[in-house]
Amino acid sequence: MEEINICERPIAVIDSGMGGLSVLKVLREVLPGENYIYFGDSANAPYGEKDGDEVKEITDRNIAMLSEMGAKAVVIACNTATSVAVREVREKYKNIPIIGMEPAVKPAAMCAKHPTVLVMATPLTLMREKFRSLISRYEDKADFINVPCHGLVELVEKGVVEGEEMDNCLEQILTPYLNGRSVDAVVLGCTHYIHVKDSIQRFVGANATVFDGALGTARETERRLAEMGLLNQSHGKGNLTVLNSSPDPRLIELSNKLLNK
Ligand code: DGL
Repeated sequence: MEEINICERPIAVIDSGMGGLSVLKVLREVLPGENYIYFGDSANAPYGEKDGDEVKEITDRNIAMLSEMGAKAVVIACNTATSVAVREVREKYKNIPIIGMEPAVKPAAMCAKHPTVLVMATPLTLMREKFRSLISRYEDKADFINVPCHGLVELVEKGVVEGEEMDNCLEQILTPYLNGRSVDAVVLGCTHYIHVKDSIQRFVGANATVFDGALGTARETERRLAEMGLLNQSHGKGNLTVLNSSPDPRLIELSNKLLNK
């Protein structure tokens, strides 16, 4: 049998469900010639309400499966899984580049003179040492309001990204933390929230700049693949396979809908 050229093998993009599609979208703009497998782990969502060890185990299992399927690289398009597992999985899967995500705290902290920055993330991300040490590097440059956004991922997994139900959820989550205060910047520290960007922008007002890590992650993926000689040089558009751990066929439909939004 003819061996497939390693550069033509797919990049695997993983998340707890619909969130990583927001990163996949940008990856396909930055690296259109690559082939992709998207694996949404909706059967285990939300990761952000789970115990760290459990998310670590799940992430390890998913990477093992995708590496078996021939992935040449893995993008963990999930801030939560990155914060708990990236170090260990990089150690374990040394022959595959693994690209993770982290909340875009740095550009937000630098966007104005001592800005007030709202950081929206999952409860698990906010609890981790990785996040605390990231924040501590910019603490003298900005005032941070860190908000664990309970319930937001669940709504996105149901396909709700705008409208009254979403607005009510944002109000419930954010009002106690903002307490009438205005913010200069918002960090979307969970890839699911990127799908809700318009509603969040409306809630915080047009003067706040909203940051997310999708483009940074796509560029980092390009850089890592180039460095390792793994970029797909073939011209033309690459292919995409969308998989989900849930047997519910509506989740594949929803994935395609969010990808084409
Ligand atoms: N989308 C994921 C993130 O970026 C996690 C969502 C969840 O399952 O809680 O953090």
